[in-house]
Amino acid sequence: MNHVRETVSKAVDSYNGSKDGLIQILLDLQSELGWLSGEVLREVSQQLAVPVTRVYQIASYYKAFSLYPRGQHIITVCMGTACQVRGSVRLLDRISTMLNLKPGETSSDMRFSLETVNCLGCCAMGPVAVVDGVYYTRPSPPDLEKIFESVK
Ligand code: FES
Repeated sequence: MNHVRETVSKAVDSYNGSKDGLIQILLDLQSELGWLSGEVLREVSQQLAVPVTRVYQIASYYKAFSLYPRGQHIITVCMGTACQVRGSVRLLDRISTMLNLKPGETSSDMRFSLETVNCLGCCAMGPVAVVDGVYYTRPSPPDLEKIFESVK
């Protein structure tokens, strides 16, 4: 059995092959593999007997899923209106320069991915950046240096 088939099979088995477990199976695979390749999605479709279009639809709808390889560390900057008013464009520029990445890019060594989002639900504290799930409000340049150094 090839690696992808085996990995998908384990995830599918842990939900007894139930179609109802589709989202959870995709979440488990995302967490194990770091992203969901076309091969993985086709395999899930086959093993669960769910149309591949349905699997793609779910995988592309939820932000938790990535259809492309992502870095080891995910940096997300909120670009919602409230954060923009509070300086998120400058924050994104600063982070982009520090990591030498444009939003949507992953570093060639696969260490960092820089992403943007439209609201993180803490608008009064903006601008907000999230690094590996930890929220940082109004991080200064020295704060950012420390943060990126600590996750290296
Ligand atoms: S707009 Fe940034 S947290 Fe809401």
